[in-house]
Amino acid sequence: MGVKLGILGLGTVGTGTVQLLQDSRFRHPLLQEVEIYRVGVRSLDKPRAVALPKSVLTTDLEAIVTDPEIDIVVEVIGGLEPARSLILKAIQNGKHVVTANKAVISRFGNKIFSAANQAGVYVMLEAAVGGGIPVIQPLKQSLRVNRIHTVTGIVNGTTNYILWRMQTEGSHFSDVLADAQRLGYAEADPTADVDGLDAADKIAILASLAFGGLIKLENVYCEGIRQVSKTDIAYAEKLGFIIKLLAIAKRTTPSPSSPISVRVHPTLVPKAHPLASINDVNNAILIEGEPIGQVMFFGPGAGAGATASAVSSDILNLVAAIKTSTTTLNPLLPCRNQEYCQIVPMAELITRFYARFLTKDQPGVIGKLGTCFGNHRVSLESIVQTGFQGELAEIVVVTHDVREGDFRQALTEIQTLAAVDSIPSLLQVL
Ligand code: HSE
Repeated sequence: MGVKLGILGLGTVGTGTVQLLQDSRFRHPLLQEVEIYRVGVRSLDKPRAVALPKSVLTTDLEAIVTDPEIDIVVEVIGGLEPARSLILKAIQNGKHVVTANKAVISRFGNKIFSAANQAGVYVMLEAAVGGGIPVIQPLKQSLRVNRIHTVTGIVNGTTNYILWRMQTEGSHFSDVLADAQRLGYAEADPTADVDGLDAADKIAILASLAFGGLIKLENVYCEGIRQVSKTDIAYAEKLGFIIKLLAIAKRTTPSPSSPISVRVHPTLVPKAHPLASINDVNNAILIEGEPIGQVMFFGPGAGAGATASAVSSDILNLVAAIKTSTTTLNPLLPCRNQEYCQIVPMAELITRFYARFLTKDQPGVIGKLGTCFGNHRVSLESIVQTGFQGELAEIVVVTHDVREGDFRQALTEIQTLAAVDSIPSLLQVL
């Protein structure tokens, strides 16, 4: 007997998934067991890129998640509601769920996984992070014997594309964003991408899996790329760095019980680092642990085919589980985290910083900056004055590892110096 799917949504990801499932030749033979039984859409009249019998399409999404015939509900509508409620209702009705919805999982994963464990069903989310890149299952299964200490990702294709073009063309953020919107690489409302919110959802999910605990999304520090200027990109380049929007989850000390930091921010990445060469709309996730060392996953982070690959691989895993039909869940497939991870406040974070100052061009200014940093235990790796903006000298500083709180106090003192006009930028350094 076939495994019946109810797909919620026939947008880019839904259409890609239907196309993949309808063309199952030379793919895994279990895919032939899949029957696309119902597809929930907003409008029955809209022209579609896939051919589906009229009886399959419905606008009644509730009827899909409660239909006793359906084994697996595939949620690819996106957004918080009605996606969240439909996922929960599907679980209550004993359906396994496949979802690409990072916003719902990062906010309501706790409730959803508890409900799923109670109902004895699986919730699969490979497509929620990194599009087509397999990273959820590797974190849950292949790498779980390791003690993970860091997950560092470029998990948002839109911002990677914008920063890459600013870098290669020497262009301003607003010009590249407008062009990216024209070309369809950025949404008309780019907020979720350029302000780092999409990446924050994704790193919260990865951190939860990597560190075996729940993450409160409000504890994820989030800073987007609107403030990244072409001037900073050029200075970073001269100093041997590329600016990337990184999503980082990291144990604060080598001890496996230490708190973690979870954050998204533009970061100066050394040119020799493996993430520095991830260009265009691509994503990559570097996982570091013991004893494995470094593993990097690289590939397309979005797009119909790539995301359909991830959604369909989850469907395949579920079909295999259903077909081998045991009454207990495979312990490697569900998420069972119960406790919250302890997150370190940003002020306690130890990291390196890049800062750019505009100052009067007069004797002793660099010395005064150095003294303020020294007063707050901030050790400098480099300090350079290479340019001018009008009458003002531009001084760029890169620190060694420092406590963020100490660095901020030094900046507060620096702002009181008569020779200092402003601090136009402040970025973290990997
Ligand atoms: N908007 C996301 C990105 C893709 O730009 O990477 C979907 O997660």
